Amino acid sequence: MPSSSSSSGVLKTLAPSRLKNLCLAVSLFCIFYLLLSNHRRAASLLQAPPVVPPQATPATPTYRRHLLFTVASSSLSFPRRRPYLRLWYSPNSTRALAFLDRLPDGGPAPDLPPILVSQDTSRFPYTFPGGLRSAIRVARVVKEVVDRGEPGVRWYVFGDDDTVFFVDNLVSVLSKYDHTKWYYIGSNSENYDQNIKYSFDMAFGGGGFAISRSLAVALARVLDQCLVRYAHLYGSDARIFSCLAELGVSLTHEPGFHQVDMRGNLLGLLTAHPLSPLVSLHHLDAVDPIFPNMNRTQALGLLFEAVNVDPARVLQQSVCYDRTNSLTISVSWGYAVRVFDGYELLPDLLAVQRTFTSWRRSISAGSSHYMFDMREFPKDPCKRPVTFFLHSILSDENGVQSNYEGQIIEHCIRGNKLRNLKKVTVFSRKLEHDIEQMKALRRQCCDVLPIINGSMVIHIRQCGENELISMQL
Ligand SMILES: *[C@@H]1O[C@H](CO)[C@@H](O)[C@H](O)[C@H]1NC(C)=O
Ligand SMILES: *[C@@H]1O[C@H](CO)[C@@H](O)[C@H](O)[C@H]1NC(C)=O
Ligand SMILES: *[C@@H]1O[C@H](CO)[C@@H](O)[C@H](O)[C@H]1NC(C)=O
Repeated sequence: MPSSSSSSGVLKTLAPSRLKNLCLAVSLFCIFYLLLSNHRRAASLLQAPPVVPPQATPATPTYRRHLLFTVASSSLSFPRRRPYLRLWYSPNSTRALAFLDRLPDGGPAPDLPPILVSQDTSRFPYTFPGGLRSAIRVARVVKEVVDRGEPGVRWYVFGDDDTVFFVDNLVSVLSKYDHTKWYYIGSNSENYDQNIKYSFDMAFGGGGFAISRSLAVALARVLDQCLVRYAHLYGSDARIFSCLAELGVSLTHEPGFHQVDMRGNLLGLLTAHPLSPLVSLHHLDAVDPIFPNMNRTQALGLLFEAVNVDPARVLQQSVCYDRTNSLTISVSWGYAVRVFDGYELLPDLLAVQRTFTSWRRSISAGSSHYMFDMREFPKDPCKRPVTFFLHSILSDENGVQSNYEGQIIEHCIRGNKLRNLKKVTVFSRKLEHDIEQMKALRRQCCDVLPIINGSMVIHIRQCGENELISMQL
């Protein structure tokens, strides 16, 4: 081969003295090499052990016990909010602590989060006219809970005593993020004017927000020195937002958190939920019971029957079309099925119907602006879709059956099919997303069976690869 013949040719042409020099050079090189590498090895022993870079995604999955909830409450409001807390808190599977100004009447209850009394905050200034200085106490909950050093916490979650959390959904949303990095996760208000007033990038406290452990530890260290600069702000959430901004951190928006800055009937909001899991609902005292003919506690209890069967699917909207009867059906799973006479395009059904009124009572319902697509709710009840609300839910290893029953408005002259429709039965399978699927969600499809004896049956399923959600005329 050419290369070996040429190298042997070099050796043949070397004189003995030059060969000696070459050997000397090679051995010198070897000595230097050994000395240098020994030196390097000795030096590396003196250095700190190599730092393992933080992993992109947590090495182990995030579970419910990795979340520590804190509930901002007061001795005055706590007794009234117990029914809300009982909905989502369970001593066996949820970690939560309630921070109050002082202990409420009555002893500890095993089915409620343990109560802690907040530290004194009288040394901090508060100058917002007409505001409540409890905002400082509530902001400092972040520091007080971190300072407890509870083991195994990946995420600290903050909410009010009238925030209802959907814990399993929050776990899957937070699983998308690396808790060893700095994250501040929540959502702003639905109401544009509220965001103008506070910030579009502030997590509104009533909707709740999550702070990764590493960020919470950093925030706890600097919070007291930061708080004094924000005496002029109204709430606790604005203080946390400001101090996180000083740390250089901004909000990661997650649309499943709901501040619910609105009043009255939430039907429009709850039947057009974003394509991400329902994480929280707030201000439930300010809105009507979410199901008709029930009080608030009963109504939320019914929603939680669905939450306990298939949390990820709750409020998820699937749309299908009945071509024989020219109907459009929108299922908001675990809550309501709405049947429209005629064909509706999917994007129109994703817009929120304005069934609610403004948060500020002084502002007329129509002049509030919201952060999502809206469509009007017809004044004439006969022009509205027929709505069937969750009635009961059954599940076994084969799947889930949810039953919805209607309120037929007798005086409306609707097509025969709609007038005789009394109930809707929806079949589905428990929705389970892994982390990769959580990052790229896709709406599910459904099929409608022919209406028999006033009853409609719907099957929800994964859409086909190229399937379009349309009437396919
Ligand atoms: C919690 O666990 C205990 C012991 O396993 C059990 O007796 C109790 O019923 C559970 N409580 C709830 C609310 O699930
Ligand atoms: C709601 O209704 C339930 C069942 O009828 C009842 O036990 C409960 O006391 C009611 N709650 C309120 C606040 O009225
Ligand atoms: C139709 O519904 C009525 C009332 O719900 C019931 O009594 C009847 O047995 C049903 N008939 C059929 C054929 O399912």
